[in-house]
Amino acid sequence: MSSISVPPGPPGTGRHGSRRAFDRDQLGFLLHQRQYGDLVRFDDELYVVNSPVLAEKVLKHTNSTYTITRDLLGDEADGGRASEDLARWMRARSLAGRGLNRSGLRAAGDGLAATAAHHAESWRARGRIEAIPALEELSARLIAEFCLGPEVGQVPAQVARLQDARLPGTVPLPLPARWPSPRRRRLHRVGRELTSEVSRLLDRRRRRQEDSPGVVADLLNAACDEDAITREGAISIIVANLFAAHETTAAALAWLFLLLDQHPQVRRRVLAEVDRELAGRLPTAADLPRLVVTEAVVKETLRLYPPLWLLERTVDQPTELAGYPIRPGQRVAVSPFVLHRDPRHYDQPTAFRPDRWIDRSAATPLPKYAFMPFGGGPRTCLGAHFGTVAMVIATATVIGRYRLSRTPGTTPAFSTRTILQPQGLSLDITGRPQDGET
Ligand code: HEM
Repeated sequence: MSSISVPPGPPGTGRHGSRRAFDRDQLGFLLHQRQYGDLVRFDDELYVVNSPVLAEKVLKHTNSTYTITRDLLGDEADGGRASEDLARWMRARSLAGRGLNRSGLRAAGDGLAATAAHHAESWRARGRIEAIPALEELSARLIAEFCLGPEVGQVPAQVARLQDARLPGTVPLPLPARWPSPRRRRLHRVGRELTSEVSRLLDRRRRRQEDSPGVVADLLNAACDEDAITREGAISIIVANLFAAHETTAAALAWLFLLLDQHPQVRRRVLAEVDRELAGRLPTAADLPRLVVTEAVVKETLRLYPPLWLLERTVDQPTELAGYPIRPGQRVAVSPFVLHRDPRHYDQPTAFRPDRWIDRSAATPLPKYAFMPFGGGPRTCLGAHFGTVAMVIATATVIGRYRLSRTPGTTPAFSTRTILQPQGLSLDITGRPQDGET
């Protein structure tokens, strides 16, 4: 163990730490601080991890040495999830995970493209969209249909309302533990409305006993019947999926369309692949292995712009990291954004180069946590596979039919307020380019 008991950090670290510098430019600050080492002191309470090995150590030991004390809505449970709640959550997530895995997706994933095509057609009719709200609407519907079947009631609209009501600070770093109560009350009211709509739709599916394998609601209803999960557990996992999925997927797709507009030669390669492999039909989950360039574009987008750019844990048990003692109550942050731009693991780390993901046979293997847009360990993203598949299918569907270009004269802002997104991105939608046209 190091003879100095705290890791190094930028000047000004201490009780109030680097808060002001961080607030001025959050991502710039995080990239700058990594020069101090693999474990950096942000302030007395918060350390930042800058290596895949330490990231793995922290994320793998979540639920034991480390805990998640803030839920997806930014609401902070005092002392973290109680252990019986945690056990219930882990059981529910493992059941829902079965519906979101490869075989579940093979069974139910083919509706994704039809929904994406329908939305894209309405964008084309409008000619121009605000990318984030339009893609959030699409993502909310994709995940709602996948979890609940084609009948989604008020769910997509309620998810959007819940997002508006969400507390600031879903992305961590020191924030007051409690925010003013009117906002919290609204959040809980909107949350209750969504919960009761999900509950109604679950009941409806059970009554109809529709035969559509892979729909997450059916798996959860069956698990409730076998007493493997409580009804509250089933509802909470669907609500969590809806909420965790729509904003992240939408932000990632917004970055992707912006990147393709900025890199026409890559867009042309995606288009050529889509034409060759699909010949005008809509993609299905079975086409994925052949949409190699499209998938590489998705991965490269998630590398450069991971929507969840900072993951936070609270220390529960005394431990050590990089030889420094870590005490209960302290917090540790891992930034996918920083790890994804580490020149030790990526050539030209700031360049958009989808080819780095194609034919990696000659490349040095990446350390496990050098690419982690979906987190890792026991609380890794439940929708990592679904999210990737939905992005590939939506990209192939939209790019195969339309041309999306940034509205001239507009510049999106690089926003880290909640998740990392190109705020204010406006896209013009026209018919797809003719052969040979750029
Ligand atoms: C591009 C899209 C997505 C990205 C980048 C993403 C990223 C992440 C990350 C990084 C985490 C871990 C947070 C942490 O460690 O603190 C997470 C958690 C989660 N994600 Fe995703 N996600 C995406 C899409 C989805 C989708 C489509 C679903 C559902 C179908 C989903 C469901 C969840 C759930 C339920 C959790 C919480 C897991 C838990 O706490 O046990 N996500 N996501």
